[in-house]
Amino acid sequence: MAKLTLIIVSQILLLAAVVSAGTGVDFAKTIDKKLLGLRKEKLTHFRVYWHDILSGSNPSSVVIRPPVSNSSFFGSVTAIDNRLTTEVSVNSTLVGQAQGVYTGAGQRDASALMVMNFAFKTGKYNGSTISILGRNAILTKVREMPVIGGSGLFRFARGYVEARTMWFDQKSGDATVEYNCYVLHY
Ligand SMILES: *[C@@H]1O[C@H](CO)[C@@H](O)[C@H](O)[C@H]1NC(C)=O
Ligand SMILES: *[C@@H]1O[C@H](CO)[C@@H](O)[C@H](O)[C@H]1NC(C)=O
Ligand SMILES: *[C@@H]1O[C@H](CO)[C@@H](O)[C@H](O)[C@H]1NC(C)=O
Repeated sequence: MAKLTLIIVSQILLLAAVVSAGTGVDFAKTIDKKLLGLRKEKLTHFRVYWHDILSGSNPSSVVIRPPVSNSSFFGSVTAIDNRLTTEVSVNSTLVGQAQGVYTGAGQRDASALMVMNFAFKTGKYNGSTISILGRNAILTKVREMPVIGGSGLFRFARGYVEARTMWFDQKSGDATVEYNCYVLHY
């Protein structure tokens, strides 16, 4: 009888172990925002100048694949590691790099798909990034693109940027673009 009880108890324990291991109920749970130090959401505005340099011996913007026709820049893919500075001059204070790619995405218009991270290198923002993904109709005066996330100080970031071309060299393709960024984050 004692032996039978022992067998039944051990069977029940085994069953319980199998059930709790199999359900996976513990893999996700709601936690308090404060556990991650997230208190009040704030809005940060910053203005940076983005320098797309294709010319010279040390370009920061490299065409990986040229366009499929000469009439638009559809199909082109460009990798960038562009300087982000505080003023229009490329030699003004460096605050970070814009790293990513842009692709000619319009067959009938001059629009690009921008996929890039602004990697900040200065002060308290050093090491933090924001991620921008959006449509850039490059001939339009003001182009709005979404900020879809971020890291470091910009965890949980969302927002938008407004891009305005300050300067464009038709021959080399070099350009300086002002980015006004509006970012909600904690
Ligand atoms: C683009 O133009 C260049 C020079 O005019 C020409 O050599 C090239 O074949 C053209 N490319 C396409 C894809 O039409
Ligand atoms: C920026 O600095 C580089 C290197 O000193 C110089 O060659 C270039 O002309 C400067 N550009 C501008 C716009 O001041
Ligand atoms: C930014 O952080 C890197 C890595 O921690 C460090 O090497 C660099 O000196 C910092 N730059 C500034 C301007 O604080």
